Amino acid sequence: MDHNQSFADYEASALLAIAGALSAGDLEEVRIEYLGKKQGRLKDLQAVLGQVPPDQRPAVGMKFNAIKDRVTSAWESRKEQLAKPKQSESWIDVTLPGSRREIGSRHPLSQTIGEFKGIMARFGFDVEEGPEVEDEWHNFVALNIPDDHPARNPLDNFYLSVASSTNPEARLLRSQTSTVQIRTMEHRPPPVRIVSVGRVYRPDPVDATHHLMFHQMEGLMIGPDVTMSSLKTVLRLFAASYLGEGTVVRFRPSFFPFTEPSVEFDARRGTGWLELGGAGMVDPNVLRACGYDPEQVSGFAFGLGIARFCMMRHGITDIRHFYDNELRFLKQF
Ligand code: PHE
Repeated sequence: MDHNQSFADYEASALLAIAGALSAGDLEEVRIEYLGKKQGRLKDLQAVLGQVPPDQRPAVGMKFNAIKDRVTSAWESRKEQLAKPKQSESWIDVTLPGSRREIGSRHPLSQTIGEFKGIMARFGFDVEEGPEVEDEWHNFVALNIPDDHPARNPLDNFYLSVASSTNPEARLLRSQTSTVQIRTMEHRPPPVRIVSVGRVYRPDPVDATHHLMFHQMEGLMIGPDVTMSSLKTVLRLFAASYLGEGTVVRFRPSFFPFTEPSVEFDARRGTGWLELGGAGMVDPNVLRACGYDPEQVSGFAFGLGIARFCMMRHGITDIRHFYDNELRFLKQF
């Protein structure tokens, strides 16, 4: 082979191997292979030199030495480079604390709602949804709330629009989740076992126990022989599941246009009674408005304040905490 070619091959592959060495160990292997005195590629190249005709030998020998010097100095500068610590490594202060990641959590009311749905699902209740913007039929009329009932006072509701010749339907923010009882019975034949959870709106003065927007859970169970005692059993089991065994539930006679008889119910854990909500046997007028036959089916309904339960369990004394979005409060859950 032409000696020029051998010299060029040697130099090119030696420089490549030097540049590719990533550690002192790699580099030492490269040295043995390309610059080793006893054997290796340099020795081979020397043999090539030996075959050159004597008259050309001085010139080719100079070339050989120049290549050897270039490879040697490339090897030396790579060695220096690898010995230097990388700049970024010398910057790391391993004693500095790491950056902490804030872990978020679900809002306490969302957690409570999740638990409520879970408990009611175990009792066989499906979840139904209803809109927050309602018409008067679902919020009042079908619920047996007559025109002159105080609950219909426009100043006690958030009306979004009134009925007019161009707008036949008034719209308001629902004041109770009982609207979903109606929507459910309108699209489902009996038997029915549902709960519905959501926001309701009332223009009440805001204080520690009242807000103008709050969350309710509505329950509805309709079937051939659903009774007041089924209602009490479901509420007692529900309260015991969320607030703990030993929670006692009591009924007090009350009135709602859409239930007859009607009760308000309280729970006691320890010493104090807590008002939880209203309930009763669904009024036959309501069943009829939804196309059910009161001779065939009966049922109970209840509506309870979600925040109240959460407050009782966690000893929270002001409902406004739930809606203030204050991190110090939210981080406790
Ligand atoms: N809707 C009633 C309220 O908001 C509660 C209720 C629900 C009462 C169902 C009876 C039956 O006060």
